[in-house]
Amino acid sequence: MASIHLGSCHNGDMGPFYQMGPHTLMVPMELFALNRQRLCERLKQRIGHETNCGRSSFPGKAMVLLQGGNDFHLYDTDVDLEFRQEAYFHWTFGVLEPGVYGAIDVETGNSILFFPRLPSEYSIWMGKLLSTEEYRRRYTVERVCYVDEMAKVLKDMRPGVLLTMSGINTDSKRTSAEATFDGISQFNVNNKILHSEISECRVTKTPLEIEVLRYTNKISSEAHIEVMRSIRPGCMEYVCEAIFKKEAYARGGCRHVSYTCICGSGENGAVLHYGHAGAPNDRIIKEGDMCLFDMGASYYGYCSDITCSFPASGKFTTDQRNIYNAVLMANRAVLAEIKPGVSWVSMHVLANRVLLTELTRIGILQGDIEMMMKANLAAVFQPHGLGHFMGCDVHDVGGYPEEAAGSSGSISPLICKQPERPTKPGLRSLRTARLLAPGMVLTIEPGCYFIPSALDKALNDSCHSKFLVAKEVCRFRNFGGVRIEDNIVVTCTGAELLTNVPRKVEQIEALMCEGRS
Ligand code: GLY
Ligand code: MN
Ligand code: MN
Repeated sequence: MASIHLGSCHNGDMGPFYQMGPHTLMVPMELFALNRQRLCERLKQRIGHETNCGRSSFPGKAMVLLQGGNDFHLYDTDVDLEFRQEAYFHWTFGVLEPGVYGAIDVETGNSILFFPRLPSEYSIWMGKLLSTEEYRRRYTVERVCYVDEMAKVLKDMRPGVLLTMSGINTDSKRTSAEATFDGISQFNVNNKILHSEISECRVTKTPLEIEVLRYTNKISSEAHIEVMRSIRPGCMEYVCEAIFKKEAYARGGCRHVSYTCICGSGENGAVLHYGHAGAPNDRIIKEGDMCLFDMGASYYGYCSDITCSFPASGKFTTDQRNIYNAVLMANRAVLAEIKPGVSWVSMHVLANRVLLTELTRIGILQGDIEMMMKANLAAVFQPHGLGHFMGCDVHDVGGYPEEAAGSSGSISPLICKQPERPTKPGLRSLRTARLLAPGMVLTIEPGCYFIPSALDKALNDSCHSKFLVAKEVCRFRNFGGVRIEDNIVVTCTGAELLTNVPRKVEQIEALMCEGRS
């Protein structure tokens, strides 16, 4: 439990903070206090609004009630899998342990955590058990009780309504787990407003959150650089995954990665989520391969999501350079346009147009770019969206507020109307269609992939085949792919680039050359 420290003289007045050793980032518990404060402000406005419109009544004191994640076991065994906190709960309380509930009095902001009462013999297996007072100081909340006291403690507080969370994740389509406990039936529960308000809070990040995201990007960038320096043809893809994970953990205290590492070499670079259990980064990297490595570390629940593409040999061939530069131009064209008010859909369209223009210049495509755009040709080469929100989830919440509300919740009337999900291939995969606003954190990840099944389909479809230079397309069939994925924060005037890896061809070649010398 040494990763959370009570404030001491060497950090001034910071108060309790999370840190994985002196070489790593201190994250103050104040980050979560501020998140809770923002949530309460929104809820007060929402409750006022609903009451004024006569849509819903919220009698008496409103209290938020969230349930944290539970321990996972390996099937029917007693092997605990490494616990990772549920993201909404983490955002609200920063609690590391499983089996915890949290309640917040919306009016005062006072918070109570409920921890499981563990038998004293657990200390043999888990180390010293903290007292409720120790937990209270650790997480800077007003009160800590045990879960078995929840019904009584909450009843004594006489809430008029408990606000629980129910809503749909618009990427996975899964429903969030709504808080429940023995005795909840004695309370007036409303699950209609919390999901949309807390999701909306998560869409824009505070300066304290951005500081953590800067850190995860710094560490992940350094780990990617170490992979580029170390890679040699003949090594297994998973060796690169191992180097990344070792660097992120040893260098930055990042115990987890934000998602399964994708280390695709050669034709595997065209498999969008390569690296899964059935294809565990287990190919030998060959001299002429292009590599597409998508890996991001996470620190105290905050993610990063970075893709680097480079030649295994350390030197780009003409084909590799052409495709790489086409994708880099798309990435940089988008980066230059980012500012508040810009539509994310228009950024996807911009990236598509740049890619098609470049593929035509290279000689893989032929014809009029606007006609290609109309035929949605870009989706053949980039079937995924341009990028997504990122925060406590790698594909962070709030992309489509109306979809997230589902049938059980409701869209926040406090959110300006946002564009609906587009319907065309490629565009419909966008994880958000929103207008950008300061504090949003997104990935910019254009790609160009030569996916044999997608190429065959396009070659056999007259809407697309007329634009394809068949001989060239066939030459690139086993090329794999290129993705260039950066993480950015929208600022008041533009974007701050969080990712810091070499992106220009010459920079990558110089780094890889230095790694070999
Ligand atoms: N690594 C998954 C993604 O880029 O969205
Ligand atoms: Mn990625
Ligand atoms: Mn991504």
